[in-house]
Amino acid sequence: MIVVAGGTGRLGSTVVQRLRQQDHEVRVFSRGMTGEVPPGVDVVHGDVRSAVDLERAVAGAAVVISAVQGFAGPGRGDPRSVDRQGNLNLVRAAGRVGADVVLVSVTHAAPDSPLEIAREKYAAEQGLRDSPIGWTVVRSAAFAELWIELLEQTARRSHRPLVFGRGQTPLWWVSVEDVATEVVRVTLDRSTRGRTVDVVGPEGLGLEGLARRVMVAHGWTGSPRRVPPALLHLGAATIGRAVPTVGRQLRAALAMDALSAEDPAAAHAAAGRRSVDELLAAPRPAG
Ligand SMILES: NC(=O)c1ccc[n+]([C@@H]2O[C@H](COP(=O)([O-])OP(=O)(O)OC[C@H]3O[C@@H](n4cnc5c(N)ncnc54)[C@H](OP(=O)(O)O)[C@@H]3O)[C@@H](O)[C@H]2O)c1
Repeated sequence: MIVVAGGTGRLGSTVVQRLRQQDHEVRVFSRGMTGEVPPGVDVVHGDVRSAVDLERAVAGAAVVISAVQGFAGPGRGDPRSVDRQGNLNLVRAAGRVGADVVLVSVTHAAPDSPLEIAREKYAAEQGLRDSPIGWTVVRSAAFAELWIELLEQTARRSHRPLVFGRGQTPLWWVSVEDVATEVVRVTLDRSTRGRTVDVVGPEGLGLEGLARRVMVAHGWTGSPRRVPPALLHLGAATIGRAVPTVGRQLRAALAMDALSAEDPAAAHAAAGRRSVDELLAAPRPAG
């Protein structure tokens, strides 16, 4: 049995689908707030912040995949309680039944990253590496499809997407389909235990560059609109205090500007993965 925590999310649902296509027994664990589960998949509803819920979820598991995140989305969650503590709970629960863990983390995960989620994911990674169980960490770049959708949403009326911050740091946007391929591969290949696998797309492009590609793909003219760093600081200190999700997103935009601009070591392995332009040219469901 392969348990996918977050198996209803963007990445998790793709992983579940692929595993089912290969006839693996799959169980989805989520709070039941996001997405749907395909037929033939076992479901346990619960929260990674609850040890009791996790105990039910991991019964009989050989591998537990964590594709949860508390950065955004429905319900009350945040990177500290979900991405750090929830994952550490999941590691403990998996350890009790002798299951391996495949943890989906983020590129730039580090204890001193300017990006909160990268610090919390790093703490979860370390908890997993220090545990006695079999582990693989998959560090993924930002999902191209998600960010293209966000830029399109902000452009709706003006046809000029909103870029938060300077948007110049190259981020190696990767297709969620390519991340799912890697997650399924390492789940089934036990020789990847004890390894951290980076998954990035084929091109380093800032958020502003991505916004310009979106505009070209739609035939929109002009330049993206900008929310300058000073306004992000102000927003984080005012509305961001009252609405934690907004504060988190504004701080994340500032942190993205401060991330390292170096090419990731894994960039050489990205050849053949879907490029931003390919994704923009591919037919997509209307929405
Ligand atoms: N999005 C990106 O650009 C990106 C980039 C790099 C890495 N990642 C990582 O990739 C993974 C998947 O991301 P995604 O964008 O596909 O996520 P997503 O679509 O937002 O889905 C998140 C999943 O986690 C579940 N979840 C959230 N909080 C939970 C909780 N407290 N207890 C149990 N389940 C919970 C959600 O289901 P319910 O709402 O039903 O609980 C959902 O199935 C995450 O680990 C994320 O950090 C994402």
